[in-house]
Amino acid sequence: MSSENRYDRRNVDNMEMLYGRGFLSGGGPDEVALIFDGIDLSDAEVLDLGCGLGGATVALLTRLEAKHVTGFDVDAGNLMRAEELVAETGMRSRATLVEGTAGPLPFEAQSFDYVYVNAVSCHVEALADFFAEIRRVLRPGGVLVGSEWLVREDNAAFRGWDDLLRERGLSFHFVDTATFVAAVEAGGLVDVSLVDRTAAFTEFSRVLLERTDTELHDALVDSLGDDGFDAFRKWCEVRYVALSDGGLLQSHFRASKPNQEHASST
Ligand SMILES: C[S@@+](CC[C@H](N)C(=O)[O-])C[C@H]1O[C@@H](n2cnc3c(N)ncnc32)[C@H](O)[C@@H]1O
Repeated sequence: MSSENRYDRRNVDNMEMLYGRGFLSGGGPDEVALIFDGIDLSDAEVLDLGCGLGGATVALLTRLEAKHVTGFDVDAGNLMRAEELVAETGMRSRATLVEGTAGPLPFEAQSFDYVYVNAVSCHVEALADFFAEIRRVLRPGGVLVGSEWLVREDNAAFRGWDDLLRERGLSFHFVDTATFVAAVEAGGLVDVSLVDRTAAFTEFSRVLLERTDTELHDALVDSLGDDGFDAFRKWCEVRYVALSDGGLLQSHFRASKPNQEHASST
C-alpha cells in the first residue's frame, strides 16, 4: 500500500465516529453477523484480512464466538488501535494481530478455515494475486467471506466518487461485479456467490449524511475545523449520490477453496 493511501489518524477518528468503535466500514457487528449468516465459527480459525481498527476481529470472537481470529493489516497505526480494542474486550488470548506489507501474506499455506475481507480489495490493484494468496492460506474447503464496494455503472455519480478520492490522493481500484468475480475465480476460488447490499448501504449513507449535519456536526467541526468539516461532509454526500444514483454498489460475497487439492497446489 502506498504511503499516501495510509489512513490519516484524524480521518480514522471521524470514520470511527460514523461507523462505531473499531470499524472503518459500515454496519458494525450486525453487518459482520449478516456476512457470516448461517456459518458456525465455534471451531474455526479466521483471518481478518485488512482488520483495520479491530472491530470485526472482536465481533468475530465475541458475537460469533470464533475459536481464534488473526487480524492482519498493512497500517501500523490501525493495528495499534486494534490491539487496544482486543485488550479492552478481554480477547487477547484468542486473537493474534500481525502487521505486514501488501503482497504475499506472512502465513503458512492452509492456516485458516475462513478469510474475512471487508472493504480491503478496493485498495488492491492485482486482484487475482490477492485472491490467490487468500486461497493459499485457506485450508481445503475453507471459505472467503466478505463485503466490498463495486462499480454498478461507470456513470456521472460513480465518476464523482472516484474523482473525489483521486483528488484527495487516495488510491482505490474499484471494479465491476464481473471483474471482481473473474478475479476471485482467477485466484483459484470456486462457487462464488454474491448478496447485493446496496439498498441497505444507500439508506445507511443517507442516515450518515444526516448525522454529520445534526448530532455529529459539532464534534466533527471541533475535530476538523470548518474547511475539514466541509471536505468530510462532501465525502459523505458524494458517496451517498454514487449509491443512490446507481454508480456504486455494495455486495457481500463468498467463495470456497476446493476440497480436493494436489499437494503441489496448496
Ligand atoms: C476501509 S478499511 C476496512 C477495515 C476493516 N476491514 C473494517 O471493516 O473496518 C481498509 C483496511 O485495509 C487495510 N489494507 C489496505 N490494503 C491492504 C492489504 N493489501 N493487505 C491488508 N490490509 C490492507 C488498510 O490499512 C485499512 O486498515
